[in-house]
Amino acid sequence: MVSEPLGQQGAAIDIRNVTQAFRTAGDVDLPVLDDISLRVEPGEFVALVGPSGSGKSTLIRLLAGLDRPLFGTVSVDGAPVTGPDPSRALVFQDPTLLPWRSVRDNVALGPQARGTLGRSQQRIDDALALVGLSDFARAWPAQLSGGMAQRAALARALVNDPTVLLLDEPLGKLDALTRRGLQGELLRLWHDRGFTAVLITHDVTEALVLADRLVVLSPRPARIREVVPVDLDRPRDQSDPAFVALRAHILDLLDEELTTTPDALESIT
Ligand SMILES: Nc1ncnc2c1ncn2[C@@H]1O[C@H](COP(=O)(O)OP(=O)(O)O)[C@@H](O)[C@H]1O
Ligand SMILES: [Mg+2]
Repeated sequence: MVSEPLGQQGAAIDIRNVTQAFRTAGDVDLPVLDDISLRVEPGEFVALVGPSGSGKSTLIRLLAGLDRPLFGTVSVDGAPVTGPDPSRALVFQDPTLLPWRSVRDNVALGPQARGTLGRSQQRIDDALALVGLSDFARAWPAQLSGGMAQRAALARALVNDPTVLLLDEPLGKLDALTRRGLQGELLRLWHDRGFTAVLITHDVTEALVLADRLVVLSPRPARIREVVPVDLDRPRDQSDPAFVALRAHILDLLDEELTTTPDALESIT
């Protein structure tokens, strides 16, 4: 049991006409995002798919408030995003646990940084329980498998009770079996906690297993190629003809982008 109710409400995300470019070493602007507009509804699960190097991480960093767009706006529940906030948690491919802190102390980082450690003890234990790591609270990160380390990273994000969970290829380095297990975990957490989820993944099947909508991006500079709703009940059956057809459609879209843009061929994974 937790003292305060955990976030049952996801936030709405509004991305409006966002364009981003980076100044490279040669003083040339590298266009990365080209006029991206997207609204994510409260509690929705959206997956971003696109060639590597297209600008997916750039976009999610804008949602996290780690960078600011060159043009356009990003707002969450109507408020412009001006910097990072624990209500918008970001989980990366690399769990980035501090090796000198126990699993529990890693999960406690957020509350500790905000000076709420004292009254967050239950919340920390709850976050560990949510991801099935209660028995490993005192373990060191080096003692965890890849899947367990990623669960710890999820607990570290969830302890802050986010209204938005941003996932940048969080399962990308895991073996297929662990990956499938964690996909189920992610769905359960999303369902139970009600946060809005934005997931970047290379894996079209993973995106279709998890998301309400897939946003297919073009090669860099990323434009929205198509937004594909996934109107299938969960848990989703990958052999369902509707699932198979959607998968083929998304792969076609990605292929088309790659064949019309020779530069992107190197990014096929
Ligand atoms: N801070 C930065 N400075 C300069 N170039 C960047 C920066 N961040 C990303 N890029 C470039 O922007 C492009 C898109 O990167 P990224 O968003 O990481 O792609 P993705 O996540 O889709 O693989 C790449 O060409 C990358 O090298
Ligand atoms: Mg990336």
